[in-house]
Amino acid sequence: MADHTYDYDVLVIGAGPGGYVAAIRAAQLGLKTACVESRETLGGTCLNVGCIPSKALLHGSELFDEAAGGHFATWGITAKPTLDLGVMMAEKTKAVGELTGGIEFLFKKNKVTWIKGHAAFEDAHSVNVGGKVVTAKDIVIATGSSVTPLPGVEIDNAAKRIVDSTGALTLEEVPEHLVVIGGGVIGLELGSVWRRLGAKVTVVEFLDQLLPGMDKDVRKEAGKIFKKQGMELMLSHKVTGAKANAKGVSLTVEKSAGGDEQTIKASHVLVSIGRRPNTDGLALDKIGIETNKHGQIEIGHDFRTKVDSVWAIGDVVPGPMLAHKAEDEGIACAEYIDGLTGIVNHDVIPGVVYTMPEFADVGMTETAAKEAGYTVKVGKFPMMANSRAKANRDTDGFVKVVADAETDRVLGVHIVASLAGTMIAEAAVAMEFGATSEDIAYTCHAHPTHAEALKEAAMAVTGKPIHM
Ligand code: FAD
Ligand code: NAI
Repeated sequence: MADHTYDYDVLVIGAGPGGYVAAIRAAQLGLKTACVESRETLGGTCLNVGCIPSKALLHGSELFDEAAGGHFATWGITAKPTLDLGVMMAEKTKAVGELTGGIEFLFKKNKVTWIKGHAAFEDAHSVNVGGKVVTAKDIVIATGSSVTPLPGVEIDNAAKRIVDSTGALTLEEVPEHLVVIGGGVIGLELGSVWRRLGAKVTVVEFLDQLLPGMDKDVRKEAGKIFKKQGMELMLSHKVTGAKANAKGVSLTVEKSAGGDEQTIKASHVLVSIGRRPNTDGLALDKIGIETNKHGQIEIGHDFRTKVDSVWAIGDVVPGPMLAHKAEDEGIACAEYIDGLTGIVNHDVIPGVVYTMPEFADVGMTETAAKEAGYTVKVGKFPMMANSRAKANRDTDGFVKVVADAETDRVLGVHIVASLAGTMIAEAAVAMEFGATSEDIAYTCHAHPTHAEALKEAAMAVTGKPIHM
């Protein structure tokens, strides 16, 4: 029932995967809803400068790589591909346009009002957008995140020498030598794009392994795979400064622990050392909300902040910075606002790195499970022994199932495989239903599929895979 004290029942700040989904669900529940967005288009980081353009370029560059020296040659197909980077970029832009336009269509269809501009709080029920005050019974903060800067390394996306992910998605030439600072998800995905298109790529990573947060075996495998693909890895190193001119960039690099300083010359640099929540300019002080030491807004299990009428979701709150996590929180938050119970199981949020092969996980790593007090049993199955991977000649990787030794319940699944991002969905569903490794092992999987490797890894938990 609409409350006429306010302009809207629900006002969402930010139209990324968290915000636009929350707005649509709130409207579907019959609440009068508006969404404020400061960008020209809807969809947030994910659709405009994140998930979608990066996946488009990963796909285009993968096709080029396959033709240039990858599987085409393996299968006796000779091709000498040439690259029209402008066409590749245009196709990416087209995909972005179609998807951001799609959200605009969904807003119209669901009667969500799109308010263009930057929102700042006036009080717990009102925000100021470009000098106009808009009021709502409930306000959802879904302002997302942006790039963490690195002192001494000034990002200038316009000059296109030292760029962040947004700049790396719009380079007008293939870098001769791209130095990637940070061997996490963005560095490896966008580093892969440019390596495939012909750049020499050097990854400078502070830690002694790539992909922090992932399982130790996965991280070790990542190091081997990216090295094999031709990336130069400088693990346990940090960049201490970078100077750009019209021709290139000169970087100073030293060991993470200090010492052994050296200078590296590069044509381009990508800074990808993490992202931080967007709260600047929201005037949170006017409603008495402070951020935690990570800059995030703290919430309860129902996504409500310490202010009753103010809620928060997505990258701006604790948890992994992932689009699907933000989306699920958007739905659940809108349901809580409507007096229902929204559900997000934060223990079962899959994560995928969309390189080739892909790296995917869900649940606990082996180390985290042990630290949580479990006695674990691990089952591992190499893609080398999976018949479909073998037939396709894409045998890099493995599946690892971590189960509770006492109950056999699956605690985590870790996959390195060309189709890991697709395969992980089965593991997530199984874990959501509290599956044991035996449940997965005794589920019939179609043959020949990559998914059979998950079944065999589950069989390996109790020691009886067939094909190994
Ligand atoms: P955002 O998508 O950041 O949206 C927040 C929106 O709020 C923005 O549009 C911003 O303009 C707007 N805003 C901020 N402040 C205000 C204000 N005061 N007033 C009005 N509007 C405001 N995640 C995945 O799951 N899979 C991927 O493949 C993936 N790839 C990525 C690739 C890259 C290069 C990057 C950078 C990120 C990627 N991510 C990926 C992460 C994903 O984009 C984020 O987790 C997701 O977008 C977070 O959604 P959100 O709604 O919380 O915030
Ligand atoms: P990240 O946290 O994944 O990786 C950052 C890396 O930089 C870490 O390995 C860290 O050790 C390293 N690092 C930090 N400071 C450093 C320094 N001074 N020198 C060298 N290395 C340093 O962050 P990234 O890649 O920027 O991505 C940000 C977020 O975006 C991720 O948390 C992820 O959730 C999201 N994202 C998700 C994608 C996906 O789901 N496929 C794709 C891209 C981004």
